[in-house]
Amino acid sequence: MRILSGIQPSGIPHIGNYFGMMKPALELQEQGETLLFIADYHALTTSPDPKILRERVLQVALDFLACGIDPKKTLLFKQSSVPQVTELTWILNPLVPTGLLERCHSYKDKVAKGFIPNNGLFSYPVLMAADILIYQSELVPVGRDQKQHLEVTRDIAQKFNNLYGESFVMPKSQIKDTVAVVPGIDGQKMSKSYDNTIEIFGGKKALRKQVMKIVTDSKGLDDPKNPDACNIMKLYALFANNEQKDTLADKYRNLKGFGYGHAKQELFELYWDFFAEFREKRSELENNIDYVEKLLEENGAKAFQIAEKTMVKVRKTVGLR
Ligand code: ADP
Ligand code: TRP
Repeated sequence: MRILSGIQPSGIPHIGNYFGMMKPALELQEQGETLLFIADYHALTTSPDPKILRERVLQVALDFLACGIDPKKTLLFKQSSVPQVTELTWILNPLVPTGLLERCHSYKDKVAKGFIPNNGLFSYPVLMAADILIYQSELVPVGRDQKQHLEVTRDIAQKFNNLYGESFVMPKSQIKDTVAVVPGIDGQKMSKSYDNTIEIFGGKKALRKQVMKIVTDSKGLDDPKNPDACNIMKLYALFANNEQKDTLADKYRNLKGFGYGHAKQELFELYWDFFAEFREKRSELENNIDYVEKLLEENGAKAFQIAEKTMVKVRKTVGLR
């Protein structure tokens, strides 16, 4: 089985990325050939500073490797190492009604957030479809925000296969219910583009600050609080076992003198310990940047070969050769 996923280097990876996509992908790497790429072409749609882009690609690679990617089982590479995806995007474009793209939530959300509507943002899902189809991917682990993009991908694959004959494997998404949408510190979906993240890696002080900024209601120290409607609790649940969850919920309801600040501190401690081993691994990698850069390059060349195999056929199929 071929498994594939991608992440945009549009900021620093956060715990939403970890639980929504990285961890499920890491679990899947035991089950089949896994391809994971850093979507630098996609990132151009929102963060076009060249120096920052280059730096972020490397940082995302470090984060992924530190979080447990096994380079023997998973091919981690840069999307742009395989320029054929842009070629396939163009070939798929005429099969995509603009109305389909107009309905895509992520496009509408980005525009609502103030990004200038550009053609890159608009046709983003077609490039994503090309990413998936070019490797004949069968399973795509993602967070719920990507569900619609996967539907668009299947739509495009179906159309192409109907028009030209069986060419692409029909991919399936894998979306884990428990972590489908990790909330940000403001309660919206956590996202690099919304400035509401808790990052996976960073200095202790800065990360504690992110946790302490989680938005809550204004109940005071002695007021009973509702654990089921609280961002801190939702994030705590990602790291805690059932007993820990029950204990904290009980404090919310019954403990006098227990405020949201205390709950945030408890969350911070669990979260900090959870990533301890990964932090060690990351510092090792930071001292070994040459290895990481070489790995990306070699893997990019391998992904290129897989993609080229598809493209040789596709070019013939559509009449370009
Ligand atoms: P972001 O929205 O922060 O820019 P990406 O779009 O690069 O993140 O997403 C990379 C992967 O992480 C995708 O599979 C996406 O669904 C997943 N993901 C991102 N944010 C969350 C979240 N808050 N909860 C669950 N999964 C998420
Ligand atoms: N659009 C995805 C996101 O923002 C990133 C991505 C690009 C992707 N191409 C992909 C994810 C292909 C899975 C498969 O999260």
